[in-house]
Amino acid sequence: MAPDPTEIEKAAAILRAGGLVAMPTETVYGLAADATNDRAVARIYEAKGRPSFNPLIVHVADLEMARRIADVPPLGERLAGLFWPGPLTLVLPRRADCGISHLVTAGLDTVALRSPAHPMARALLLATGRPLAAPSANPSGTISPTTAEHVREGLGAKVDCILDGGRCDVGIESTILKIDGDRVTLLRPGGVAREAIERVAGAPLLAPAVRIEAPGMLETHYAPRARLRLNVETPRADEAFIGFGAIDGDSAAERFNLSARGDLVEAAANLFARLHSADRAVSSLGLSGVAVAPIPREGLGEAINDRLRRAAAPKFDA
Ligand code: TXA
Ligand code: MG
Repeated sequence: MAPDPTEIEKAAAILRAGGLVAMPTETVYGLAADATNDRAVARIYEAKGRPSFNPLIVHVADLEMARRIADVPPLGERLAGLFWPGPLTLVLPRRADCGISHLVTAGLDTVALRSPAHPMARALLLATGRPLAAPSANPSGTISPTTAEHVREGLGAKVDCILDGGRCDVGIESTILKIDGDRVTLLRPGGVAREAIERVAGAPLLAPAVRIEAPGMLETHYAPRARLRLNVETPRADEAFIGFGAIDGDSAAERFNLSARGDLVEAAANLFARLHSADRAVSSLGLSGVAVAPIPREGLGEAINDRLRRAAAPKFDA
């Protein structure tokens, strides 16, 4: 879908005036606001009902805009050079004069930057001429949106404008890396596989020193309403099933498949849409829950398993 200049200019004007725009990216739809405007950023948290201690990703047009916001070490330059525009976020030291709202970075001295590849997101960044803070465009604690329809269902009137850029190609959020000199820590597995980054970094990625997601509300970040059982090969007759490859759950009441040919890239692209559909099937047919087939852990399978584990975590009323 080629961006319509009139529509992009309208959305850019809304952003410059401090409004909220749902923008398609290649990973998931983002709820965008001018990252330099505190009030606009506050509206993101309000619309999502999101705990405000969680810092947001800042979207930039290119590496040049990134360098004005953060100190980019040589390894950061190389990773951005190879994977931008694309589903990779780099957490880097914030520059003192960067102008990014401290609400975006939740008071931290680092900032998370990503240059998205979707043509509409790129057009919007260029038209607005400002860095855009954008978490996924869904109410906090619900499944991330991979179509404009998902955004409408979840946020509707809370957004000033929804740009429809079709279905997200990657379908799962960006990989987040923290770069300290030549040390690289994997903060969130995502759309760029660990193996691809390790080939560039020349060393295994480090694990975060402290697990920020203690048992509790952050675990349920991607949760559907329905109960979720993972690594199931034979679903029950009263369950909806999300299969993978040849494991397609013929015993289930309602069946979906992430990728009939067992392709993890296709599975990532379909993940959130299938969770949305299975969740809907459980409510409309009165099923007991959703069972999901085992997903291999290599490549994008790491990110898929991460999102499924969070979706299946016990829910707390927080
Ligand atoms: O694919 C994506 O990354 C999507 C699309 C819209 O671009 N965006 C997205 O943003 O997932 P958000 O705001 O939902 O993800 C924010 C994640 C959080 O887990 C947060 O903890 C981490 O990024 N983060 C942001 N700034 C950080 C920082 N300075 N240090 C460590 N983690 C940070
Ligand atoms: Mg999110």
